[in-house]
Amino acid sequence: NKKVTTLSIIAKKRRNQKITMVTAYDYPSAVHVDRAGMDIVLVGDSCAMVELGFETTLPITLDQMIHHCQAVKRGAPNRPLLVGDMPFGSYEFDNVDIALQNAYRMVKEGGMDAVKFEGGTEARSKIVRHVVQGGIAVLGHVGLTPQAINVLGGFRAQGRKAEQARTLLDEALRLQDAGAFAVVLECIPSNVASVITEQLEIPTIGIGAGGGTSGQVLVFHDLLGMLSHPHHEEFCPKFCKKYASVGIHINDGLAQFKKEVEEGMFPGKEYSPYTMSAEEEAIFN
Ligand code: KIV
Ligand code: NA
Repeated sequence: NKKVTTLSIIAKKRRNQKITMVTAYDYPSAVHVDRAGMDIVLVGDSCAMVELGFETTLPITLDQMIHHCQAVKRGAPNRPLLVGDMPFGSYEFDNVDIALQNAYRMVKEGGMDAVKFEGGTEARSKIVRHVVQGGIAVLGHVGLTPQAINVLGGFRAQGRKAEQARTLLDEALRLQDAGAFAVVLECIPSNVASVITEQLEIPTIGIGAGGGTSGQVLVFHDLLGMLSHPHHEEFCPKFCKKYASVGIHINDGLAQFKKEVEEGMFPGKEYSPYTMSAEEEAIFN
């Protein structure tokens, strides 16, 4: 149960061992992801969507991200590598120092071991280089970058044209050169992800990018079916396998509690533990 580090993550690629990463946003999800033995816990800005109910990742603030990071740190303080997403607007391209100062907050206040930035343009890689030189480990992220949703025009696959695929490879190489310890590849063709993985020294972690990457990441709520329900449709991305339907259990438990309270079954004698001595009761009555 040794601490996972950026070096041990990189070593896994060299040894041909797959890297596992799952998101967490609060204490219980962090406890679960740690106990399951995942290499990396990602406090993703997907938090805005799956925890806070927004339509996109754009609204979540740095202060809110730090609040969630702190809870995750308390849930998984020792073993996994903790990575926090830098939220939209916290790393402006024309001021690398703002990005660095905000990244320091994710480490010093949020307790993160590393931060993740979306995108691999020249400007973005300058930020990554500056933050790494400032002493903070960086995970890159190319392909579908949800913070650019309004520029991309929607949540859809990237790099399906040869020229765009070439750009993705260039971006990933640029992030590696800037000092990123790994790169997330989101929603790109499997063959493109495989080529990028072969061309890079550092590992790739895929989501909707096929089986040729160095590892896989999924969103906690998606893979566990947190919103599954007997009478409601649950959203699930095409690439996400649902490994459980936790929402069904939540619904069952809540429905049973409601029924038992309304029928006078709960708490009953078994769950009414507090009593008075006969003497006190006589005085009280
Ligand atoms: O926010 C998030 O959960 C992510 C992963 C899907 C990579 O960025
Ligand atoms: Na994210």
